[in-house]
Amino acid sequence: MKEIKKVTWRSPSNIALVKYWGKKKGVQIPAIPSISYTLENCYSETRDTLVPKESKSKDVELRFYFDGKENMAFRLRMLKFFDTISKDFPLLQQYGLFIHSTNSFPHSSGIASSASAMSALALCLCELQDELDKKKPSKDKFVQKASTIARLGSGSASRSLYPLAAEWGKSRAVKGSSDEYAVPFAKNLHKDFKNYQNTILIASSAEKKVSSRIGHSLMKGNPYAEPRFKQANKNLVEIMGALKKGDLEHFGTILEEEAMTLHALMMCSSPSFMLLAPSTLTMIEKIKRYREESKLPVYFTLDAGPNIHLLYPNNIKRKVDAFIFAELEKHCEGGKMIHDNVGEGPYRVK
Ligand code: DP6
Repeated sequence: MKEIKKVTWRSPSNIALVKYWGKKKGVQIPAIPSISYTLENCYSETRDTLVPKESKSKDVELRFYFDGKENMAFRLRMLKFFDTISKDFPLLQQYGLFIHSTNSFPHSSGIASSASAMSALALCLCELQDELDKKKPSKDKFVQKASTIARLGSGSASRSLYPLAAEWGKSRAVKGSSDEYAVPFAKNLHKDFKNYQNTILIASSAEKKVSSRIGHSLMKGNPYAEPRFKQANKNLVEIMGALKKGDLEHFGTILEEEAMTLHALMMCSSPSFMLLAPSTLTMIEKIKRYREESKLPVYFTLDAGPNIHLLYPNNIKRKVDAFIFAELEKHCEGGKMIHDNVGEGPYRVK
């Protein structure tokens, strides 16, 4: 098959510190602003190859491979996504497209892959279309466009485009912030927050009972939605203050409040649902006790799932590792965990 153009991007996952949960009217417009750390070891690598079309129809000709195997379920999701972005990407109708994608973390680990996958895909598509159009946008413009496109695939993916940390969603507290794309936050980070470690403790790798998409939609009609939206705006300001000042304790307090609130919102949605596992609660108790006894700044957060993200600075890594192996490993499913840290963001693979 004749290849016309080909590009590969590696893009990481991210972990939200203040959580996006709930959408406004429009296409993937967040109800509240959110902020996240960009990870390093959990990433997707995606290669997009343009080939001549087989037919003259306007239909998208796509073949999607995940981990080397053709994947029809992912292909269908992609086609739906392409519907929402086709105006910006004439290439989707002009060429045939092969997408090969892999994740660095096991597909069945319970780690959400939409942020890394969608951001890697958005980067590939933006680069290919710019090349075809002979456009050379500035790096900032290019990344902003990729963040916008990634958001249309999955909201949290908009934040994976930047080194260290990113904020997404209009907020009076963040200059240049937008509901359409995320903005970088790295230059506001105190040095003590630049080398943070993130150990993901796998409480369960079972597929989620309720998807994030459904979870977001259940915020409509949730009696606590309005107070939550107020709290999130306040927490964003507070956590940004802590991240700038290097206040590890205040950072950790907000971090855990956000995690617990996210899951409380799920439990009081209608219908109600719960994504925590018994071992999640056991580990949370142990983390709190360890923090009290050791006085070390070890805090946790949770995604929309049962797995715990333990966050702590690099200079206490040895002690925290010892605690994890002594107290937490036995509560992880099959002893599974993933060691990650704050990372430099996506890059183009040569
Ligand atoms: C709990 O970005 O997965 O991880 O926009 O519908 O694709 P969609 O949802 P998604 O939601 C992520 C929710 C969260 C919090 C966060 O990452 O901010």
